[in-house]
Amino acid sequence: MGIQDAYNEWSGIYDTNTNLTRDLDSTLTRNLLADQQFDHILELGCGTGKNTQFFVQIGRNVHALDFSQGMIEKAKEKVRADNVRFSMADLTKQWPCEDKAYDLISCNLVLEHIPDLAHIFSEAARVLRSGGKFLINELHPFKQYQGTKARFERGDETIEVDVFVHHISEFINTALKNNFKLIHFNEYWHAEDSHKPPRLVSFIFEK
Ligand SMILES: C[S@@+](CC[C@H](N)C(=O)[O-])C[C@H]1O[C@@H](n2cnc3c(N)ncnc32)[C@H](O)[C@@H]1O
Repeated sequence: MGIQDAYNEWSGIYDTNTNLTRDLDSTLTRNLLADQQFDHILELGCGTGKNTQFFVQIGRNVHALDFSQGMIEKAKEKVRADNVRFSMADLTKQWPCEDKAYDLISCNLVLEHIPDLAHIFSEAARVLRSGGKFLINELHPFKQYQGTKARFERGDETIEVDVFVHHISEFINTALKNNFKLIHFNEYWHAEDSHKPPRLVSFIFEK
């Protein structure tokens, strides 16, 4: 099953099934951006709007992109704010965004599904204003080395979604090649992760 079809199916239960990675990202995103305000936020792979509902509180305008109709429909039900617009868009193609239009881009739990990070950083560099920030929270590659993948249950069956491994060095070097500065880096564990590898890795790059 392709990634888009998988998320269309997963959208029905994404918010309600047990998912420590989703929950940790939600807490982390709110902590990292607490007390900050932005003019124009671009969210890459908004899914069911878990973080969109926070971004509409800290952003004057929010533009949320995703290529799954099912996920976007859930997000639209959840986030009924006047300052958000949703676009169906494939992040591996050119983004439907103007140059230098945003002061924050957030990308949460999406890049494991994207083969080519160079395209993502090049588009981010195009659409961010000077001084704009690019927050990335992703499943830690250490978890991927151990075989962890985005997955959901269909009855007794486990459906795994196609993923690509991006090493820490790849994130940083691709960002540097696109003239970003690294201003935050950290690794995070869920409370249930003691003695395990970090679950999430988090970067903030500045243009
Ligand atoms: C694990 S979900 C994360 C959703 C949300 N960011 C969150 O943190 O809950 C991954 C999302 O990325 C989207 N996605 C994956 N590949 C994509 C692509 N090439 N273009 C646009 N969206 C994509 C999926 O449709 C899905 O909604």
